[in-house]
Amino acid sequence: MSLFLTFEGPDGSGKSTQIQLTAQFLANLGYDVLTTREPGGTPIGDQIRTVLHNVANTAMCAPAEVLLYSASRAQLVHEVILPHLKNGGAVVCDRYADSTFAYQGYGRGLEAEMLHLITQFATQGLKPDLTIYLDLDPAQGLKRKQHANSAGAGEWNRMDRLELDFHQRVRAGYLEMAQTEPERWLVVDATASIETVNQTIRRRLEQYLIAPQ
Ligand code: TYD
Repeated sequence: MSLFLTFEGPDGSGKSTQIQLTAQFLANLGYDVLTTREPGGTPIGDQIRTVLHNVANTAMCAPAEVLLYSASRAQLVHEVILPHLKNGGAVVCDRYADSTFAYQGYGRGLEAEMLHLITQFATQGLKPDLTIYLDLDPAQGLKRKQHANSAGAGEWNRMDRLELDFHQRVRAGYLEMAQTEPERWLVVDATASIETVNQTIRRRLEQYLIAPQ
């Protein structure tokens, strides 16, 4: 049985570490695991990512932003995710359409109905089986990321520069989405230790694999 798992969470929430650990866990269960990320994950998507994250692109309007994220996603679904799922594999994706609902919807204030239409078109209707949200106070997350960035690690992008209010709206959006669709979401406190967060994720995955929704 194929599995499509996505991770969401603010900058600096420890997402990359948890993705690695989870991919390893699934591989140990015998899955052929593919990890990828958004925006990007394909040669075309990586080019779109450069445009999206360039801090010089301050003139980018919100509709252009949402269409670029969606274009990257369309390419990723078509070229990478769907073929792997069709072969019965597991795909672990660092961000997916919920990022668009959170950042461009709750954050930028774009209409949810429009975002759903665009997303449906871009993804061919593909939804994750499970979505893990690593919940962290944005102020704390940005501080962690700024710190990593000044130490030469990580990337400081156009979205990171938006005001704290924006990131608070994004967080509230994630929590609301998770509440509306609890069978798909797992919200984890990202301030807990790496091992505790990982155990919580593993437990939920085991539950899902025994009795898929
Ligand atoms: P990235 O550098 O990949 O880091 P992280 O995932 O650790 O935050 O940044 C991706 C940025 O793009 C992030 O600020 C969220 C934003 N984003 C959107 O605004 N909309 C989207 O649809 C996606 C996929 C990402």
